[in-house]
Amino acid sequence: MSSARSLFALFALPVLLLGCRESIDYNDGRIDFDPDRPEVPDAEDIAPYEGEDETVLEAQRRFPTGLDLHQKVIWRTCTPNGGVCHNAKEYPDLRTPANLASAFEAPCNVQPGESTSVFDGCEPNGDRLRFSGNVDSDPVEIGYIEQIPGEPGDFDEENPPLDLPGLHIHVVTPLQTDRDRFWSTARFVRTFVETDQVEELTYASFETQWFVLEGGTHLYGVVREYQFDDVEELLNVGIQEADANRNGVPGATMGLGVSMLVPGRPEDSYLIARIRGEMHDDPIPGSRMPLANPPLSIAEMLGLYCLVEGWPNEADQNYLSSPIDYRNCSYSDDPEALNLLGNGVTWEARVRPILEANCGGCHSDAEQQGDLVLVGDGVYERLLETSAQVPEFPLIEPGDAEGSYLYMKLIGADEIVGNVMPYNPLTGEGRLTEAELGDILTWISNGAIEDQ
Ligand code: HEC
Repeated sequence: MSSARSLFALFALPVLLLGCRESIDYNDGRIDFDPDRPEVPDAEDIAPYEGEDETVLEAQRRFPTGLDLHQKVIWRTCTPNGGVCHNAKEYPDLRTPANLASAFEAPCNVQPGESTSVFDGCEPNGDRLRFSGNVDSDPVEIGYIEQIPGEPGDFDEENPPLDLPGLHIHVVTPLQTDRDRFWSTARFVRTFVETDQVEELTYASFETQWFVLEGGTHLYGVVREYQFDDVEELLNVGIQEADANRNGVPGATMGLGVSMLVPGRPEDSYLIARIRGEMHDDPIPGSRMPLANPPLSIAEMLGLYCLVEGWPNEADQNYLSSPIDYRNCSYSDDPEALNLLGNGVTWEARVRPILEANCGGCHSDAEQQGDLVLVGDGVYERLLETSAQVPEFPLIEPGDAEGSYLYMKLIGADEIVGNVMPYNPLTGEGRLTEAELGDILTWISNGAIEDQ
């Protein structure tokens, strides 16, 4: 078996850039206008915005160019203290302006082994399996591979080995063969594209007995003890799976692939979707970025949207020093629509339910732990009062999460007295999920408004 690890570092597969844009229902807090795409003017023809919208004027003043936006907004999410963009491996490294420019038309990454947090649009084309010897069939694309450890023992002729120990390979299109089992060498093949050269490479192979299950969509490879090491090596190579999140939708194969940033189309850009927590109507799995920093303000979002919308195809990093075209940017008509609160991170829809589900057991009328009630009527008003533990802080300071004692208790800030919340009496600790923390942070940072 041959390993081609070094090759994988050198080549990247292209990802289809097809948005699914028909019949998008922009409603309630979403971007409720159909963007009127500007023609991208030459950099020297970009004229300043001269309208009256305060947010657009603020964005134009603070982020006249992409370089300013990188320095004042993007870089902030990368700074060492709690920054996410280089310590969480699922995010691209955006530390330099060149990195930002190269995020245009770059595929979003799928990290091996993180099947649950993969967005369909980030799934790559799968590697293919080609059998030789006893079956004569076209190669099939790999959806996902599951290894069940152990020795399979003897086969029970009555029952197909659907969940026996061994190698279970789920493929995107069925293997066409009339045999239900065969002995063969399976070759793992990947297509590499380098500028104008397309090359098919067999990077690994595995010989064993194969069973054809579930109409050819599920192939089971027998793994005996003497083959354990071979299989481990095979899986360590990093087989590219078309359906890495195992939900039956192979993203790239179905033409759903998205890029980190798509020139002209901010709403189809994965990076922006990660900040918003959704793309069109689909929630984006994983936590929202940036987490540990104040969420982006409306002016910052506008800068990012207008940069992406006005980015010419095939521009390079030099274009970052051109003015951002706020005048023609379709989002300048209604920057409020970019408010991150629009994504359902409101008091009623999100924050109150988080408190009810996680805090009500100890902070109710019946159980007023820490002299605090967090469920029922009057909670919002109570949150604007001061903390009983450290009265110099209000529980919530609208616009300032780091000065909000309730938030400090959730992240375990240095200033707190007592335990980090939600307290778990069994373990002595407890923590909300990153997504819940991120949404509370967003809500406070955007003014902690009590919607009805
Ligand atoms: C298992 C019980 C328990 C749960 C669940 C719990 N708390 Fe507490 N909470 C306490 C106790 C006990 C105190 C007082 C001692 C301490 O701070 O450790 C307290 C104190 C507090 C205080 C300080 C009150 C003040 O006025 O200074 C805040 C704020 C707080 N909790 C927020 C929360 C939030 C928000 C949640 C849910 C995410 C939560 N708690 C869940 C038991 C709990």
